Amino acid sequence: MIFVSGANGQFAGSVIATILAAGRAGELVVGTRNVNSAFARELAAKGVSVRAADFREPAQMRRAFEGVSKALLIPTYDTNDVRLQQNLNAVQAAKDAGVGHVVYASFLKAESPLVEHSRLVHFPTEQAIRASGLGFTILRHALYADILVGDLADTLSTGSLHRPSGDARSAYIARADLGISAAQILMRDEPSGLTYTETMERTYNGVEVASLMSEVFGKPIRFVAVDPTDWPRYMTEKWGVPPEISKSTVGTMQAVAAGVFDLATQDYARITGQPPRDMRAFLEGVRDARR
Ligand SMILES: NC(=O)c1ccc[n+]([C@@H]2O[C@H](COP(=O)([O-])OP(=O)(O)OC[C@H]3O[C@@H](n4cnc5c(N)ncnc54)[C@H](OP(=O)(O)O)[C@@H]3O)[C@@H](O)[C@H]2O)c1
Repeated sequence: MIFVSGANGQFAGSVIATILAAGRAGELVVGTRNVNSAFARELAAKGVSVRAADFREPAQMRRAFEGVSKALLIPTYDTNDVRLQQNLNAVQAAKDAGVGHVVYASFLKAESPLVEHSRLVHFPTEQAIRASGLGFTILRHALYADILVGDLADTLSTGSLHRPSGDARSAYIARADLGISAAQILMRDEPSGLTYTETMERTYNGVEVASLMSEVFGKPIRFVAVDPTDWPRYMTEKWGVPPEISKSTVGTMQAVAAGVFDLATQDYARITGQPPRDMRAFLEGVRDARR
């Protein structure tokens, strides 16, 4: 059986949709904190096994992993100390339950001490997985392109794309594409020990993103650099992200502005046989979905 954690999440949703489209619902176990959510019930009706799985509850996680051979662990969205402990709980539970292979949704440059999320969450989790004796695949995700449109209504109404990236170029990738590649890894025999860094095939700076947005959405949009230390306030004001979580993004945003994420790889095509969508195609998809 194949396991996907955090079923109600957006990345998980893309993984699950890809597995269902492959006709493999009967092999799928999804974990969620709320087995009675509308989405959980919809999945159960399709033949998916839905189990309670909260990373804060080691005994429950162990039960959720029973009979699972391959498990995708998706980190949660919380403060960094909480996320690390939750990940360590999940890895230990997978080991205790006899899972053969874990796939961890990590983050670009996980080894870099400059990237706060990586130093405090992703790299220690990767190390725990390596030390666990479990088979594993690490998927290091670029910045979700979706983050660029998290405040699209504001961007379009003000004609300003506010981001903390300065002049630096960064690697992005569409979250939906990452769901496709993760699902493919889950559905096939995969050798243990591989790390993939998944990015679009080129990087973009803020001015380029704003210019592509102008073309795709048909109105002038300029890039406005936000100081990384002011970014938490913006996230909290505009997106309603709790202050204790937005605060934990400063170090990573400083790394973005310092160009730490200026790298592009072909790893996505190595997994799927096809390149990921580029920024223009991603933005066109967003535009078309709004129509
Ligand atoms: N690469 C990037 O740029 C980037 C950007 C943002 C986030 N991320 C990371 O990628 C993850 C997935 O992103 P997303 O956009 O899909 O996030 P999302 O839509 O907010 O989904 C996160 C999911 O985490 C699950 N979750 C929360 N608390 C949990 C717990 N205690 N135990 C088990 N599961 C729990 C929830 O699933 P249930 O409700 O089903 O329990 C939730 O739906 C995020 O959580 C974050 O770690 C990466």
